[in-house]
Amino acid sequence: MNEITQQTLPKHIAIIMDGNGRWAQAQGKPRVFGHKKGVDAVRNAVTFCQKLEIQSLTLFAFSSENWQRPEQEVTTLMELFMFVLTKEVKKLHKNNVKLRIMGELSRFSDKLQKRVIEAECLTKDNTGLCLNIAANYGGRWDITQATQKVAALVSEGKVKNEDINEELISKHIMMAEQPALDLLIRTGGDLRISNFLLWQAAYAELYFTDTLWPDFNDEAFADSIACYVSRERRFGCTGEQIKQLLA
Ligand code: IPE
Ligand code: IPE
Ligand code: MG
Repeated sequence: MNEITQQTLPKHIAIIMDGNGRWAQAQGKPRVFGHKKGVDAVRNAVTFCQKLEIQSLTLFAFSSENWQRPEQEVTTLMELFMFVLTKEVKKLHKNNVKLRIMGELSRFSDKLQKRVIEAECLTKDNTGLCLNIAANYGGRWDITQATQKVAALVSEGKVKNEDINEELISKHIMMAEQPALDLLIRTGGDLRISNFLLWQAAYAELYFTDTLWPDFNDEAFADSIACYVSRERRFGCTGEQIKQLLA
C-alpha cells in the first residue's frame, strides 16, 4: 500500500463552504440555523488541518455577492462573524493559528473592522496553521486591488509599464506569502467557483462534493484529500489512510 507522507498532502486548501441554507431547510428550520451549524463544521475543519499539519486553510465565509441576500440573513451572518472573532480567537491563538481576514473590509461595521485588526494583530507571529477567512471577498476584487497596487508603483516611477508581468501581479494578490493553492473544495453540490480565488486557483485541483457544509466532517474531508493525493501522485489511496494519519 502506498504511504501518504507530508509531501503528498496539499499545503494549501481552500473551501467554498456551501449548503448551509439547504441543510437547515431540509429539516424545516430557518436558513440561519444552517449557518450556526456551519460554524461547528468550521471548527472541525480547522482542527482537522492542524492535525494533518496543513500550512494554509482558506475559507469562503461571505462573498461580495452575498450582500444581496435577505437583510435578516446578512445580519445573522455578521453577528456570527462577530461572535467567532470575539469568542474563538483566543483559542486559535493558543493553538498557534495565524488568522487573516481578507476581502473588502471597509463595508463592515467599525466594530467588526476593529475586531478583525485585533485578531490579526494578536495572531500575527504565530507559526502554525494560516487560517484565511474570505469575507466580502471576490476573486475579481482581489485581481483589481492587485492591479491598483501595481498601477501605483508605475505612477511612482518604481516599475516600468513593460516590466509588469505575472510574477509582479502575483506578489500583490491575496496570500502571496503563503504556499500556492493545491486543493479547492466546494461542498453543496454546485459546480462553480462563484468568484472565489480566481487567480490562485489557476493550477489548483478542484473537488466538488454533494455533502452540505454542516455535514462536512472528518470523513468527508479525508475523502477529499484522498482524492487529491490520488490525482497528484497517480496512485489510489483511501480516506482510511488519511484517518490513520490523524490518529
Ligand atoms: C453557504 O451556504 C454559506 C454562505 C454563503 C454564507 P448557503 O447559505 O449558500 O446555503 P445554500 O447554498 O443556500 O444551501
Ligand atoms: C458561495 O456560495 C459563497 C460562500 C460560500 C461564502 P453562494 O451560495 O453564495 O454561491 P452561489 O450564489 O450559489 O453561486
Ligand atoms: Mg449557496
